[in-house]
Amino acid sequence: MKKLLIIIGIVLAMLIMIFVLLNIWTGSILNKKYSFNEEIYGEGKKKALLMYQPSNGDTTKEISVHIAKLLAENDYTVIINTPGNGSSYSTDDYDLIIFGSPVYFGKVSTLLEDYVTDKHITNKNITLFVTGKFTDETKEENEMKNWFDDSNKINTIKTNKDESEKLDTFLKKHYLNN
Ligand SMILES: Cc1cc2nc3c(=O)[nH]c(=O)nc-3n(C[C@H](O)[C@H](O)[C@H](O)COP(=O)(O)O)c2cc1C
Repeated sequence: MKKLLIIIGIVLAMLIMIFVLLNIWTGSILNKKYSFNEEIYGEGKKKALLMYQPSNGDTTKEISVHIAKLLAENDYTVIINTPGNGSSYSTDDYDLIIFGSPVYFGKVSTLLEDYVTDKHITNKNITLFVTGKFTDETKEENEMKNWFDDSNKINTIKTNKDESEKLDTFLKKHYLNN
């Protein structure tokens, strides 16, 4: 009996350790600062700024580029960059502002949150996108909405690479004319 309790204790301790290490690892992904790397899509009349925190793989970047390309086909010029690298865009210059983050253990990027809250954005069209596995869970989008002043018009979506149709439908519904 005593042996069994010791084994259960060791297994529990190992599980807790794995969870703590995973939390540290994902926290570092969510808050990693990348060097200045601006990308521009399209030459349209309308201007969009898309700031995103990259995920561990390429999902969040791919989704950002997907959004930018679709907007670029619809009369937008889209500037993409990541937060925390000194990029100081004036949000007043944009018709649409998009912020994206991956989610790990229910948390999104605090680096992006700091970027947003520093800007005190008001009266803007804002899109928030979250990349994650459980795309029916809207908790993170709702938390991100709280970063903003009520005067903004905010649309949110949680998505991943397998759901490009859902993303296109969302963008068409809210921002594109077709
Ligand atoms: C340790 C870990 C925790 C995760 N937690 C969540 C979560 O809480 N909610 C969710 O929807 N997705 C979760 N995911 C899925 C990630 O959000 C998803 O893999 C990420 O957005 C895309 O990453 P990629 O660029 O590596 O493909 C988690 C993934 C990992 C590895």
